Amino acid sequence: MNAFTYNYPVTVYFGEKAAADNLPAELAKVGRNVLLAYGGGSVKKTGIYDELMGILRAAGKDVTEFSGIMSNPTYDKVREGAKLAKDNNIDLILAVGGGSVIDCCKIVSAQAKLDEDIWDFEYSKGGKPTEFIPMGAVVTAFGTGAEMNNGAVITNTEKMMKSPVWGAFYDFAILDPIYTMTMPMKQVISGAFDSLSHSMETYMGMPREVNLTDEINEATQRNIIRNIRATLANPQDVKARSELVWAAAMAENGILKTGKATDFQCHMLEHQLGAYTDCNHGQGLAVLHPVLYRHYLPEAAPQFARMATEVWGIDPDGKSETELAEAFIDALSDFIKEIGLPTTLSEMNIGDDTDFRAIAETTVRTGGCPKKFTTEELLHVLDECR
Ligand code: NZQ
Ligand code: ZN
Repeated sequence: MNAFTYNYPVTVYFGEKAAADNLPAELAKVGRNVLLAYGGGSVKKTGIYDELMGILRAAGKDVTEFSGIMSNPTYDKVREGAKLAKDNNIDLILAVGGGSVIDCCKIVSAQAKLDEDIWDFEYSKGGKPTEFIPMGAVVTAFGTGAEMNNGAVITNTEKMMKSPVWGAFYDFAILDPIYTMTMPMKQVISGAFDSLSHSMETYMGMPREVNLTDEINEATQRNIIRNIRATLANPQDVKARSELVWAAAMAENGILKTGKATDFQCHMLEHQLGAYTDCNHGQGLAVLHPVLYRHYLPEAAPQFARMATEVWGIDPDGKSETELAEAFIDALSDFIKEIGLPTTLSEMNIGDDTDFRAIAETTVRTGGCPKKFTTEELLHVLDECR
């Protein structure tokens, strides 16, 4: 095992009515000015906006609204939020939504306290922000686990990069599974697949011998697979939804990463696909994962074989390690079809006119991936996904 320090700064309030029960006490800790951030309007349709506004008013807060945060949030939107936060002397940012709203606000919180442009500060000067506006997240769409970490994925449309930018950890996160019951089923499944992907991407990192962290990871993966099936069988199954909401957080709350360097090569490729096509994150991962995995099967056969038996319950009897590894990728691929996720880019309306070479060239190569991909190999992967 690698050496590690485990300390988690995010307080999680999980369960039905978590906002009503816990938000008032959190609001009492901060000043009067709250930036209420949300996406394209689902919060108004679901009634979550009205409920939270009621709690904010009862706490005597002055609310500034920051709305219209889009899926795959842009750097321009971060700038807009940072200006609002500065101009209104914001004391707390309350981010209400899925990964996109939650990510955007992480960087708003840092940019509002920084005099220089945060993208240049981090990417050109290697800086890490140290001052932040306090933040709370109210999760209405689960999957990314963005409420649990301090990395945000931001699309810089000028540079054509969808990249991690480092911000603050949330001071608290409210995870009420009932808030997620109105999510469109397509988003439920792509979000849950994203959580499965985070678990696999962490499992595939180093070190690769059997360890406690990976055994907890195997349980998380089994849980996600089982509860995706339960959710498809009964979309109103609150128990299954609750498990998925917590599994998404578990995959990103550091426990599955203790003592590990992660892989996340598939994510890096998907992010650049997103930069060029604005595609749905979980769907992009579903198309890329099996194809990318077949490209590094020789380097990763032991871990794939372990996932075959420990996660997918494949009988190892009479099978070589390579055969088991292949059986894992087949099982993953069959599962993606079974749960209705796309298996090709064309199903996602990503056409042949996409600049696949630019995507391959600009994809970050990760240190924890079992294979070092060349641009040509990534281009092959993308070609096979069409
Ligand atoms: O915008 P509104 O109208 O609110 O609609 C949203 C959006 O269209 C809708 N929605 C949210 N809650 C709802 C709801 N609809 C009905 N009822 C509700 N309760 O859901 C749609 C998708 O939301 P979005 O936040 O875009 O999805 P997701 O949570 O999948 O986040 C995706 C973003 O997170 C990044 C992705 O790259 C992408 O930009 N990621 C962030 C990560 C992190 N910080 O750790 C890790 C991930 O790997 C990922 O890269
Ligand atoms: Zn992801």
